[in-house]
Amino acid sequence: MRIGLLGCGTVGQAVVRMLSEGGATITRASGHRLELGPVLVRDASRPRPGVDPALITTDPARVLEDPEVSIVVEVMGGLDPALGYLRTALARGASVVTANKQLLARHGPELLTAARDAGAELRFEASACAAIPVIKVLRESLLAAEITAVTGIVNGTTNFILTEMGRGGLSYEEALARAHELGYAEADPTEDVGGADAAAKLAILSSIAFHSRVLIDDVPFEGIDRLEAEDMEHAASLGFVIKLLGVARLIGGAVSARVYPALVPRGHRLAAIGGPDNAVLLESRATREIMLVGPGAGGAETASAVIADILSILGTHQGSFLHNALADAGRPMAPPGGVVSSFYLRMSVADRPGVLARIASVFGDEELSIRTVVQSGAGDEARLVLIIHSGPEDRMERALERVRSLGDVRGEPVMIRVLGSGEGGDRR
Ligand SMILES: NC(=O)c1ccc[n+]([C@@H]2O[C@H](COP(=O)([O-])OP(=O)(O)OC[C@H]3O[C@@H](n4cnc5c(N)ncnc54)[C@H](OP(=O)(O)O)[C@@H]3O)[C@@H](O)[C@H]2O)c1
Repeated sequence: MRIGLLGCGTVGQAVVRMLSEGGATITRASGHRLELGPVLVRDASRPRPGVDPALITTDPARVLEDPEVSIVVEVMGGLDPALGYLRTALARGASVVTANKQLLARHGPELLTAARDAGAELRFEASACAAIPVIKVLRESLLAAEITAVTGIVNGTTNFILTEMGRGGLSYEEALARAHELGYAEADPTEDVGGADAAAKLAILSSIAFHSRVLIDDVPFEGIDRLEAEDMEHAASLGFVIKLLGVARLIGGAVSARVYPALVPRGHRLAAIGGPDNAVLLESRATREIMLVGPGAGGAETASAVIADILSILGTHQGSFLHNALADAGRPMAPPGGVVSSFYLRMSVADRPGVLARIASVFGDEELSIRTVVQSGAGDEARLVLIIHSGPEDRMERALERVRSLGDVRGEPVMIRVLGSGEGGDRR
């Protein structure tokens, strides 16, 4: 079996190494001998350890049109030209393994259809949570379990930042600087801290979990850049930690998938996941909760998932049953306004009589009840932290709008959802 590589950077180099070091084991286990074929790069003059220089090319046709290449591995990243390359490879019947989450989260269903039409296989384990075999578990192990919810910490950069803010009392900026120092944050961290990276991964995971078509544009996301050290302190004093979560669940048969920072009860399994690790909690009535934890990035970690995908493709030969995942159930997306959860709210208010009563009556009018109030004074201003009992999100938004216009509130209130607090999801 000849493997063509599109890209030979951090992940591609590690794939080359693993194919060479694990070759004998793969042959023993699968009966197939894997051979590295042409390798596409931008700069052919750079040395690529372990790759015969005659295989290095800057001409995509050498990979895409080589009839001997039966599996094309895309580890180059970006949407264009990667999308066109994958379409070409699949159209000629080659199977494809990709680590490209942005591409999958935008064009996954189209590429799955192209693969099916061509009788080829498309695999993308490395695109979500790198080393953690979450897609394999959803596609294969839990295929019959009927997943009802997927809740995950799917971005290592933000988990590292929030862990540092919680542990060391660092400000957001200080924790981000530390993530840069340790190589946990990209030079431009916008995709990570703004939530777009997590949204792409959640789109991929929800598509597989719910056998449905979920694209990144279907996943509203919020980041962590508005959080302050004092939010971590308030959360801690109330028994919570703050995590950036991807939360996907079935609600009345529709898919709800969103990314947001959330208060997680300290005893919850996800609360214990610190540093740059990722974790995904999979729920179904049959299996209750299964949590997968591990590194969500890194060259070798990602390459491990790429090799696993190549093996999975080998497993489809000669009448095996594990073919492509499906995204054809046609489920609608659930409107976010109907999703029920409980809320943490922090705001500065003018320290004058009746403020709390006015705010409480706004929530009362929207049938939202206040569970906890923490109040601290600072000059003519008071800091209010409220935990609001579970209610639908659109009522919370309406109440917030009215609270903002009361004239008592200074600055912009910070609202964070609380995990596991009466959210209404399907229970099968
Ligand atoms: N690194 C991780 O931890 C990680 C984790 C999960 C998923 N991924 C995904 O894996 C993919 C690869 O990531 P990476 O970190 O390995 O990236 P990288 O180090 O930047 O490597 C990219 C490789 O692709 C080649 N390339 C890029 N654009 C090209 C083009 N237009 N034509 C020809 N070759 C091109 C580059 O060639 P040159 O070497 O000549 O520049 C390089 O060899 C991305 O989709 C990424 O999102 C990475």
